[in-house]
Amino acid sequence: MVDGMTECGESGALNIRLATGDDFEWAAQLMASMDPWRKLGRDFNQRLSLCRHPEYTLLIAESSESRLACALMHQRGVAGSPYLASLAVLPQEQSRGVGSALLAFCESYFEGARFFFLCVGSFNPRARALYERKGYTQVGELPDYAMVGASEFLYVKRMAP
Ligand SMILES: CC(C)(COP(=O)(O)OP(=O)(O)OC[C@H]1O[C@@H](n2cnc3c(N)ncnc32)[C@H](O)[C@@H]1OP(=O)(O)O)[C@@H](O)C(=O)NCCC(=O)NCCS
Repeated sequence: MVDGMTECGESGALNIRLATGDDFEWAAQLMASMDPWRKLGRDFNQRLSLCRHPEYTLLIAESSESRLACALMHQRGVAGSPYLASLAVLPQEQSRGVGSALLAFCESYFEGARFFFLCVGSFNPRARALYERKGYTQVGELPDYAMVGASEFLYVKRMAP
């Protein structure tokens, strides 16, 4: 899948597409300016090098007027299955369904994938609650992984038998 339109609650029609041009800088700036990346010390340059990394796929979600969110994925990030490395929505656009719509798009992006993995910090209970509502199950805990004193929880969703 390359791009598509999706309906998104209060945000109306959402276009989701592969990043091009200055989308990489835009996504890196978005993440570097907000938690959990700020809390973890992931700065603009660290984010940009990951966004531009050839093994990663960066998707942009936008309204008819502007960019709203980004998602960064690796096709074989965990045990050969797709992995969602980052999901970020502009602060003023959060809790309007954009993240859920982009997450659903990511889940079906790599055709034929049976599992979809992601990690979320122990300090991010609202994101964990969202993923659990969307069908993700915690299958692992990585203590002191991204930050000393916190855990990264590994979640997986089964997409097909
Ligand atoms: C987490 C996030 C991607 C969800 O996207 P969204 O468009 O806000 O989410 P939706 O509108 O589809 O769903 C709403 C749910 O998202 C979660 N959420 C909303 N704002 C959030 C925030 N600032 N941080 C973490 N989770 C948040 C909550 O579970 C919320 O449900 P609630 O209002 O009942 O608590 C988005 O809020 C975000 O970018 N947060 C900051 C970055 C982050 O935590 N990313 C995930 C890292 S694993």
